[in-house]
Amino acid sequence: MMFEHEVLIIGAGLAGLRAAVEAVRRGSNAAVITKVYPVRSHSNAAQGGINAALTDRGDDWTDHALDTIKGSDYLADQDAVEVMCSEAGQALIELEHMGVIFSRDDQGKLGTRRFGGQKAARTFFVGAITGQAMLHVLYEQVVKANVRVYDEWFVTSLIVEDGVCHGAVAMDIRTGEAHTVRAKAVILAAGGAGRVYEPSTNALICTGDGYALAYRAGAPLMDMEMVQYHPTTLASNGVLISEAARGEGGYLLNSKGDRFMLKYAPDYKELASRDVVSRCEQTEIDEGRGVDGCVLLDLRHLGREVVERKLGYLQEVAHDFMGIDLAETPIPIRPGMHYMMGGIKTDVNGATMVPGLYAAGEVANVSVHGGNRLGANSLLDTVVFGRRSAIAAIEYAGSVRDMPKNEDQLKADQARIRRIVDRPKGLRTAAVRRELADSMHSHVAVFRNQHGMEAAAAKVREIKSAYEKVSIEDKGKVFNTDLVFALELGYVIDTAEAICASALTRKESRGAHYRTDMPKRDDANWLKHILVYEGASGADPRIAFLPVTITRWKPVERKY
Ligand code: FUM
Repeated sequence: MMFEHEVLIIGAGLAGLRAAVEAVRRGSNAAVITKVYPVRSHSNAAQGGINAALTDRGDDWTDHALDTIKGSDYLADQDAVEVMCSEAGQALIELEHMGVIFSRDDQGKLGTRRFGGQKAARTFFVGAITGQAMLHVLYEQVVKANVRVYDEWFVTSLIVEDGVCHGAVAMDIRTGEAHTVRAKAVILAAGGAGRVYEPSTNALICTGDGYALAYRAGAPLMDMEMVQYHPTTLASNGVLISEAARGEGGYLLNSKGDRFMLKYAPDYKELASRDVVSRCEQTEIDEGRGVDGCVLLDLRHLGREVVERKLGYLQEVAHDFMGIDLAETPIPIRPGMHYMMGGIKTDVNGATMVPGLYAAGEVANVSVHGGNRLGANSLLDTVVFGRRSAIAAIEYAGSVRDMPKNEDQLKADQARIRRIVDRPKGLRTAAVRRELADSMHSHVAVFRNQHGMEAAAAKVREIKSAYEKVSIEDKGKVFNTDLVFALELGYVIDTAEAICASALTRKESRGAHYRTDMPKRDDANWLKHILVYEGASGADPRIAFLPVTITRWKPVERKY
């Protein structure tokens, strides 16, 4: 069957749903396609909050912009940061008007907490379930507007003809049938790639689908070496303990009971930027001052009332996974893979380098996060650029006259799926992904060096050739998750390839890309973006460079 829409949005997290809301407001025939039911998207897991500098609080968007740029280690494009920070207040108030029940302060006004790398308390929040609250409200808007949502459909390819994107091929997971979904413009809002690493704070669905779909379609990915390790995750399973805990005043302690951030970041302490705090923790652990491969997050001094009222969700997580009462006992945590700063290169309107293809949210790189994202800037990024990408995609769609009617991509994807289903017993998806993800965590993590990154790249190449031997046991059509996982593995591999190629290219340390063999930032040679394109017919990826846009903030040494 063939389906047709003006704009097709791939992904139903915050960026995708915000784009859908905008499209509907503008009278567009837009549809959303998502491999899970929308409110199961990973945005649901976002805990800490959303940043906005409100002038009536004595804050200023230019201060937010400077904190963001400094946090990025000067790799963010400053024109894009200006857009995000200047539109933040409006985006926040709009969410409140739609129905997001933000937590209030003692005066009944919207409450704030201070997040890392920021001078002001400008993080608005709903307890520690901000993403969930926003996602449900945006989904309500989508339901109200009767937007067509293809839920539990898995996208297998973008349709690109003569270099222009015209839609996607997707499999309805319930029936196992693949279909062509034509569109004049496509917005990729498919989220992150946590499962390229193990462990990760990300849901199991974060398998890099959007990065790989764009990469295969000829769109470059940018700054893929910039992978964020969040300072406070559980060692056993990677589950996030929100930065809100430090925002409310939590301490980090080593095995001697020392509050070690006083030494490394005397001004910002536990609220230095994430890359800095993660490196400090890892240094304490590596130098023998850790506790079973972790350091401790201590909230006891906040008192039970604050812990339970403001951090109730974290109390539940600590209790359920560790049997710990945060008001009584420090919890062991360590840096864990959390977020991709890199992504599909876009302009501030979400346009990628492939006409007809737009991107927003974590999968995109508008270039507002650079080498390190500030906590609570990701939810802001999703709503600001989700909205802008919809406006630009609709305008572009208005200029498209004809769409090709052939089903070549559908036939190619059906044949690819058939080959996987028909393959006799071979390698198992889970084991292959685990091997790759362990290697990425060993070699392309908080600390890196040439030798380790080469080992990771070699592992990716080995696994890429082994992918042709991956087989599935479920040969049926209905809800074949075995098949979905095998297809996702292909996306994981392509994303890992792009990360390794970019990381090996950058010959300096900046933001999350810290090389022990090249520990200095080198603005003279490396104040630039790295673009990575898929290599032609199985060749190595192709690298290119772009200058960083500097508007008013000259790069200086970063100190916290
Ligand atoms: O720590 C957190 O709550 C995470 C927030 C973020 O990544 O923006």
